[in-house]
Amino acid sequence: MASKKTQLKIIILGDSGVGKTSLLNRFVETKFTQLYRATIGADFLMKEIEVEGQTVNLQLWDTAGQERFQSLGMSFYRGADCCLLVYDMTNQKTFESLGSWKDEFLKASCPDDPKTFPFIVIGNKCDREIDRAISYNRAQQWANSNDVVFLETSAKDDLNVNEAFIEGARKAMKRE
Ligand code: GTP
Ligand code: MG
Repeated sequence: MASKKTQLKIIILGDSGVGKTSLLNRFVETKFTQLYRATIGADFLMKEIEVEGQTVNLQLWDTAGQERFQSLGMSFYRGADCCLLVYDMTNQKTFESLGSWKDEFLKASCPDDPKTFPFIVIGNKCDREIDRAISYNRAQQWANSNDVVFLETSAKDDLNVNEAFIEGARKAMKRE
């Protein structure tokens, strides 16, 4: 048996403004800013974590939600071990896009196991409960019918952010 891979490639996708960059900044740099700066092309961050007693090096790929900034295409999706699909729980449209992000990812990354490939669905901005547009149950149902894990997070208040990335890493490791 091949030794366990200690480097994992994780791609984060979702509509513009859902908080992909904010989640990564919270997780990697433990920082948050209200300021919005669109991601252009793609960004790359690294973080070492412990998962089930093993040291894992996460290679985290931030992507542009805005179509006009998707200049790199989708070639870098290849070789991904896990994909985080993010929506903004205060914005219905971003939830409705999840399916097409998932399909696009599978089409571009061509994993050997498209049916069981690990996706994590993240409903971000849960600090804005008062503006909620997507109920927890509705998102959970979507996740169940797509056989993926679902979590609500807040990059702003640091809720469930570590959990989301660690769950992604755990799922990716199980796949090896
Ligand atoms: P693109 O790079 O265009 O694809 O957007 P993005 O998904 O990277 O969004 P980004 O992280 O830049 O966040 C967009 C806006 O939402 C910013 O103003 C953030 O401050 C705000 N934001 C992100 N996460 C949260 C959150 O958990 N709660 C609240 N209240 N605001 C958030
Ligand atoms: Mg961004």
